[in-house]
Amino acid sequence: MMRIRRFQPSDLTRVTDIEAHSFMEGAPGLYVAVYRMQGEGFFVAEVDGEVAGYVVAALAEDGEGRIFSVAVDPRHRRRGIARVLLNRAFEFYRGHRILSVCLEVRQGNLHAQALYRDFGFSVVGLIPGYYSDGEDALVMRRRLDPGPPEGLSARKIAAS
Ligand SMILES: CC(C)(COP(=O)(O)OP(=O)(O)OC[C@H]1O[C@@H](n2cnc3c(N)ncnc32)[C@H](O)[C@@H]1OP(=O)(O)O)[C@@H](O)C(=O)NCCC(=O)NCCS
Repeated sequence: MMRIRRFQPSDLTRVTDIEAHSFMEGAPGLYVAVYRMQGEGFFVAEVDGEVAGYVVAALAEDGEGRIFSVAVDPRHRRRGIARVLLNRAFEFYRGHRILSVCLEVRQGNLHAQALYRDFGFSVVGLIPGYYSDGEDALVMRRRLDPGPPEGLSARKIAAS
């Protein structure tokens, strides 16, 4: 059984382990800092009681959302976990009335790009040599609908 919940400090070992299997970069203590600064949008997917993946839906100071990171344990990939995590991230962004979400992804990471395209992201820029090994980053962005105005329920809008 899978469930999505907020990251808690006791998840740190699992998250760091998944990070190590997923990314070339990383820094000791990175996710402790992420939890302190962006804990509200830091979600994990738990499968049968074990953390199998995570997403960090960060809020940037300019009011934009930024998917800081999404990763799934290699043993649990291709089962839709990243999709569920990204859906939760977008629910979080909608709750914060965020209208635009961006992210960076390695130019060679075609699997992740396919996933992001599926979620409505498109490439809006390139940052040369963004990663520590010199690989370029693609910048991808997706706009979000503003949704119903504050105080108006969907039913009221449908009836109006
Ligand atoms: C990218 C990643 C998060 C996907 O996680 P996942 O749980 O396996 O993804 P899902 O099962 O939800 O797949 C969703 C879609 O992504 C794409 N995708 C994911 N993995 C893929 C692969 N190995 N080959 C081709 N397409 C792939 C597909 O479009 C897939 O949809 P489909 O299964 O209906 O074809 C995971 O592979 C990962 O952790 N990679 C390393 C870290 C990383 O690259 N993170 C993203 C960059 S920040």
